[in-house]
Amino acid sequence: MNRQDAIKVVDELAKSPNIHKHLLAAEAAMVALYDYFEKQDKVDQGSREEWGIVGLLHDADYEATDKDLDRHTDVVTEKIKGKVSQEVIDAIAGHADKAERRTLMAKAIYAADELTGLIVAAALVRPDKELEGLTADSVLKRFKEPSFAKGANREQIKTCESELEIELSNFVDIVLNSMKKINWKLGL
Ligand SMILES: [Fe+2]
Repeated sequence: MNRQDAIKVVDELAKSPNIHKHLLAAEAAMVALYDYFEKQDKVDQGSREEWGIVGLLHDADYEATDKDLDRHTDVVTEKIKGKVSQEVIDAIAGHADKAERRTLMAKAIYAADELTGLIVAAALVRPDKELEGLTADSVLKRFKEPSFAKGANREQIKTCESELEIELSNFVDIVLNSMKKINWKLGL
């Protein structure tokens, strides 16, 4: 399965523009994190394209399973079984606690997923509602306000330090910059 095939799966399962945007943001973050680890020769599993596919597909069945959240990730992993590596399946299932997060790819989507949500929320409260002028510092400030974007699980984001060995401020920087590069796709 290549990126184009993954996009077809997204189009088939997800109708809401917000889910599409979330998946594109997660893809951008995953590719940026792949590049970060690749530079240090630390990538343990998966190609750059596979890391991106994990981002694209991790929540692809979110709408399809919204009546039964226990099934979240089951629909999409069933659909792509045999077409992607087991590591991709495990990373997607792992972000919903349905598989052990053994690889960097699995740990990366777990931490980045929630951060993309916090970044979108931080952009939307700006007067211009744009990502362009948003700084990592202001995202970090928002991170420390528990009442801001409560849905973005801070503990989960913090696993960037324990699981990925990336300091939080650096992690925010990497993910924020990756999203700025596709701001037009995100409508931000
Ligand atoms: Fe997600």
